[in-house]
Amino acid sequence: MNLRGKIQLGLVSAALAAGALWAPAASAATLRICSDPDNLPFSQSAGPEHGFYIDLANLVAKKLDAQPEYTWWVSMYQGKALRYTLRARTCDAYFALPAGADYETPGLARTHGFLDVSYAVVASPSFTFTKLADLKGKRVGVQFDTTPQIILAEQGGYNTTTYRTAEEMFTALNKGEIDAAFMWGPIAGYENKLQHQDKWRVTPVSGDHMSGQVAVAVRAADTELLAKLNAALTALQPEITQLAEKYGFPLAKPIDVAAASNPARLGTVGFARNSWHGADVPISAVHRVGYVVPTGTQVAQASTGGKPPPSADAAAGREFFNSTCAHCHSPDGASPIRARDLRRLKGLFGDQWPEVAKTTIENGRPNLGMPTWKGILTDQQLKQILAFLATIQSDD
Ligand code: HEC
Repeated sequence: MNLRGKIQLGLVSAALAAGALWAPAASAATLRICSDPDNLPFSQSAGPEHGFYIDLANLVAKKLDAQPEYTWWVSMYQGKALRYTLRARTCDAYFALPAGADYETPGLARTHGFLDVSYAVVASPSFTFTKLADLKGKRVGVQFDTTPQIILAEQGGYNTTTYRTAEEMFTALNKGEIDAAFMWGPIAGYENKLQHQDKWRVTPVSGDHMSGQVAVAVRAADTELLAKLNAALTALQPEITQLAEKYGFPLAKPIDVAAASNPARLGTVGFARNSWHGADVPISAVHRVGYVVPTGTQVAQASTGGKPPPSADAAAGREFFNSTCAHCHSPDGASPIRARDLRRLKGLFGDQWPEVAKTTIENGRPNLGMPTWKGILTDQQLKQILAFLATIQSDD
């Protein structure tokens, strides 16, 4: 199939475009891109900032003389995301996946790697990190279930504390509870730039399961599109560097850190599973940098006043909601944006609201930025979320 086969008339609706329609050359062409709606600093469906991948995808589309058109799908479960996007032909270019050959994507092809990504050591600028052993005698933050956590534990002699998120590690650094932290480099650089005025030095590392590159994926048969994307990415290399700077990604020469004493033990853990969302397991703790609401904050007590006391289901649902949905819907669903304010469900849909909410959560409203959760949430989690939503419905 030639490139025009991938490129659609701008007027064709997303639903129709899923088929094999294509437009005559004279009309404006469309490049159908898929990406995660909620994965800053890489991608985000709602502005003001759209993330590195989306800024780049827009530049690539321009190079191909095409209008970008987006299909949003949460990449928390990468295999599923690819199945419902690229493989289902709802889009033609997936931004982005690991470029390495050990990351297998049968039936898909990838461009050359266009950006180096890796873990990084975050510490005060007065500390120069040149080798792993420099961290001996320091208090080091590591993230749960990541390569650095495993390597430091295996090598022994390090004083580590494990955290769930990069944000928690920045907080610990700011409080002086740790001297250095191992984080996913792009996230560390982005957070450092945007939230911490570049207060910390972010030093990227390289090594087994520590570093790699990212690439754009297409269906394997789309060889012509692949060639065009490769050419565009090559031509855009200066812009890629500028975007990496814009988002604060660490661009210094990486420090090579020795591989694990027993690399086989690493398996897919760390690099592949967490930072890349490689396998079908949740990785929200690692790649998400949005709202993190500590459990047990006072928000809930305030908003459940006058309502039935929350059940165990509602409490579990609230915790889940605040870690997974709150960066779009605000803590406890009290979004200042009307369409996202989940206290209005009962007012909008009357007694039918649980039914309507369940359908919306399962199917999402992909065009409006609400992801599809079917197959991601268990029945139990859905039930708990609905129990929680019941506790926040406004009375009027
Ligand atoms: C990436 C951002 C995002 C995430 C994450 C997200 N939502 Fe949404 N959600 C939205 C947007 C935007 C809308 C409004 C869509 C519209 O305009 O109709 C919405 C709408 C909804 C609605 C329908 C509201 C109505 O008035 O009909 C429900 C219910 C809902 N979300 C529940 C959830 C739950 C539960 C989660 C977590 C499992 C979640 N959402 C995660 C963005 C998000």
